[in-house]
Amino acid sequence: MEIGAWSTQLEGEHHPLLRDPKTNLIARSEFMGLDAQVRLADGSRRQAVNFDSAATTPALSCVVDEILAQLPFYGSIGRGKGQKSTCSTEVFEDARAVVLGFLSAPADEYSCFFSGTTTEALNKLAGALIESPDDVVLVTRSEHHANDLPWRERAKMRYVEVDELGRLRMDEFAEHLADGKVKVVSVQAASNVTGYVHDVHAIARMAHAAGAIMVVDGAQIAAHRAFSMKGASPEEDIDLFALSAHKMYAPFGGGAVVGKTALLDAHVPRYRGGGMVDVVSDYDCTWLGAPELYEAGSPNFVGQVALARAITALEEVGFEAIQAHEQVLLRKALDGLAAIDGVRLYADSENISDRVGVLTFNVDGVDAAELAARLADDHAIAVRQGEFCAHPLCHRLLGISDDDIVAGMRTPGFVPPAMVRVSFGMYSTEDEVDQLIEAVAQIAGRA
Ligand code: ALA
Repeated sequence: MEIGAWSTQLEGEHHPLLRDPKTNLIARSEFMGLDAQVRLADGSRRQAVNFDSAATTPALSCVVDEILAQLPFYGSIGRGKGQKSTCSTEVFEDARAVVLGFLSAPADEYSCFFSGTTTEALNKLAGALIESPDDVVLVTRSEHHANDLPWRERAKMRYVEVDELGRLRMDEFAEHLADGKVKVVSVQAASNVTGYVHDVHAIARMAHAAGAIMVVDGAQIAAHRAFSMKGASPEEDIDLFALSAHKMYAPFGGGAVVGKTALLDAHVPRYRGGGMVDVVSDYDCTWLGAPELYEAGSPNFVGQVALARAITALEEVGFEAIQAHEQVLLRKALDGLAAIDGVRLYADSENISDRVGVLTFNVDGVDAAELAARLADDHAIAVRQGEFCAHPLCHRLLGISDDDIVAGMRTPGFVPPAMVRVSFGMYSTEDEVDQLIEAVAQIAGRA
């Protein structure tokens, strides 16, 4: 065994991933478990269809191979002088460069610190950036709870509304920013409910003109569309961006924040411990700068190696092909579902060019939980139902007022509203979409 194997592989010596001849995307055989059989309610077995990629994705085999290749050389990160510790630390630092490159973030301007999920990252950022309960934060009614509740806990909130199709009311940003009091604007790059991709660079321009910091929740875009920290002009550059590896074919707890180094260095996170300090006296301490300042405790080496390897795989196929494939699947699924009597689709089903591969729907007269269970139990199709940790957005799409929700919350036995979500990975196929349409038609009783 030789120390430093991973660095060698990063230089291009790993085997090229098998490609699907039709889509030119990574072949299904390169993902773990896509051929797994699951047991249906009638006792039969069938190959599972995974339409829940917005929640989490299966692992790429090359990611697992990379982890296994690294583990014999694993040692403490940034904390030892043994060969293994030195090797693992180098690999870990290489992984930062991979993430910076993925987001076109120049290393002389941006740092990458590693985290767990995007939820963890946004909590860390909220803890660092919000210094007074009078600080004002602007988010939107489209956000996942991870990009709302951590700010709510610490700051005064303002919200940009969505329209009847769930798209952001872009004109409201300027109104909320006009008095110059907003400290942080934080917006998702793509919605986990509607799939809309948001023009966060245009929002950054408005935020910066008003003196605010621009944070982007990148959880739902990272595996679906190319993203650059740099905008068309410096005013459009993103200050901070968070992503989760488990939505990028690397489910080992990794995740990262890419942010402007000067901004990160100007704040101190509340998550504290060893590794982020220079010197600690009996009653005082001096802090290191980013990225270490945001990485208290021993890091998740395996998770971040997995993230970096998944990124190199995504870069190998390129986002043009991923986006084109998702658009084909989305168009087919929306058209097929819309043709079934009683299916109610949410968000814009006609103009879908600004949507990643996510759709939500209900079937009249069928409870969403029952629908999702029947898709799984009778058809081996995995979807998610509920409100996808984005309750305010779902209430708006469902046409339920906040007053009704608040009344419901106070009523014993209240069953929250729900819808069903289908979300695609790059391995999803048109044949699987046909299976979904047939299954929904059967459940709707109209096949
Ligand atoms: N945020 C994840 C989802 O949308 C968990 O399902």
